[in-house]
Amino acid sequence: MKRLVINTIEKKSHINKEIYGHFSEHLGRCIYEGLYVGENSDIPNVNGMRTDVVEALKKIRIPVLRWPGGCFADEYHWKDGIGPKETRKKMINTHWGGVVEDNSFGTHEFMELCRQLGCETYVNMNVGSGSVQEMSEWVEYLTFKGVSPMADLRKKNGHEEPWDVNFIGVGNENWGCGGNMRPEHYANEYRRYSTYCRNYTDKKMYKIMGGPNVDDYNWTETTMKTIGKSGTYPADLISGISLHYYVHPGGWENKGSALDFDRDEYYETIRKAYYMDELITRHGDIINQYDPEKRIGLIVDEWGTWYRVEPGTNPGFLYQQNTMRDAIVAGVTLNIFNQHSDRVQMANIAQLVNVLQAVILTDGADMLLTPTYHVFDMFKDHQDAELLASYIENEVIGTEKEKVPEISQSASIAEDGSITITLVNASDDKDETIDVIPVEYNAKEVKASILTGEMHDHNDFTNKEKVKLADYTDFKLESNGHITVKLPAMSVVSLKVC
Ligand code: AHR
Repeated sequence: MKRLVINTIEKKSHINKEIYGHFSEHLGRCIYEGLYVGENSDIPNVNGMRTDVVEALKKIRIPVLRWPGGCFADEYHWKDGIGPKETRKKMINTHWGGVVEDNSFGTHEFMELCRQLGCETYVNMNVGSGSVQEMSEWVEYLTFKGVSPMADLRKKNGHEEPWDVNFIGVGNENWGCGGNMRPEHYANEYRRYSTYCRNYTDKKMYKIMGGPNVDDYNWTETTMKTIGKSGTYPADLISGISLHYYVHPGGWENKGSALDFDRDEYYETIRKAYYMDELITRHGDIINQYDPEKRIGLIVDEWGTWYRVEPGTNPGFLYQQNTMRDAIVAGVTLNIFNQHSDRVQMANIAQLVNVLQAVILTDGADMLLTPTYHVFDMFKDHQDAELLASYIENEVIGTEKEKVPEISQSASIAEDGSITITLVNASDDKDETIDVIPVEYNAKEVKASILTGEMHDHNDFTNKEKVKLADYTDFKLESNGHITVKLPAMSVVSLKVC
């Protein structure tokens, strides 16, 4: 038996609901088919947004959605995506499969999607092939209430009132697809673009500087240095810096398969998921030098697994299956984000539907929920709760070649006093029993749910519920207030204690 001690009176940091955010790009079947089918589709929809997908996403309380990319963002010209659909420009989506992008999903459609989802909006601007003027006009179009050329254009296009834009990304991966810039050059560009990204409302716009790729600590150091120490630049210049990190077993050039992998590859994947912890710590240490008050958020706005595409699918569409292995990756990663919620202010898994580590897959009118979806469902009560200090007795497991910590965990307390504990057992063959000790807490009731299976288990269109969430009863609330819970091999367990 391993002990998990939770100090219920030591609140460490606020877990922003945005840590449970998502990302949707004009890539493959994410936007078109996955989210948007158009008003005239036979697939049930409201204003073109497919109803089944919207309802499923509301259930996991999707807090925020990033759009339009990704690499696509730095080639996107927003004016092509407004006005009557028949007159919108068609273009080639050069990054993703060379398909025709007809711009039928643009600014109004994205805002309508977020309205239906009840989530916040994160719009990623074009720096790579755009201009300061183009960006500042988009912000004006989106958020200005009064009389101005862009506000008038929005009204002419049928939207009288401005929208609420919660987050603005100033470029994407500007070290790569967003312009292949050097960090100092980009940071200076950031200062210029950000200046003209005006606040038209009382609410301060949350502006995100394009951050490093994985372990490019020089990018973080140089961009932060160019921005300067807090207090030396206008207060609204920067609110966050992004970090992108994908887990690809086998490496970038020789990515493994989503379904066909062995134990070594399983543990390699989990080891690489745990690497997120080191990345956040080390990038965080650099940011601390410039922002010791932790005002600037680390925004992990692209994360997840990235495998070879499913055989027979367009290589540019990044369509992959999703197994229990992905559920373990999601659980481990979300626990890491919770544990670092003093610095991580938002995270967006890539991507929402049909692309990379998607929570939903569609096939025409059909739809299924992936194991990763269920993990977001199980973790949703951490949203906007307070992280509690916790400590677990752990051990290292794996194969000869690949070693990982066995258990991942985090605990939080909500405003109503209830505690959510999320546990992941990454072992493929060893059950565990955990003695959960909530210090200074009088637990009266516990409810639990579980997601478990064999590492290759997944849902497909012939069996959509092979991996599904279940109520869990293999725990006991002891008379001394401890909770003894069995944690089967390859499982994610969520406990709700009150
Ligand atoms: O999510 C797919 C791509 O990965 C994004 O477009 C890009 O930002 C990243 O390299």
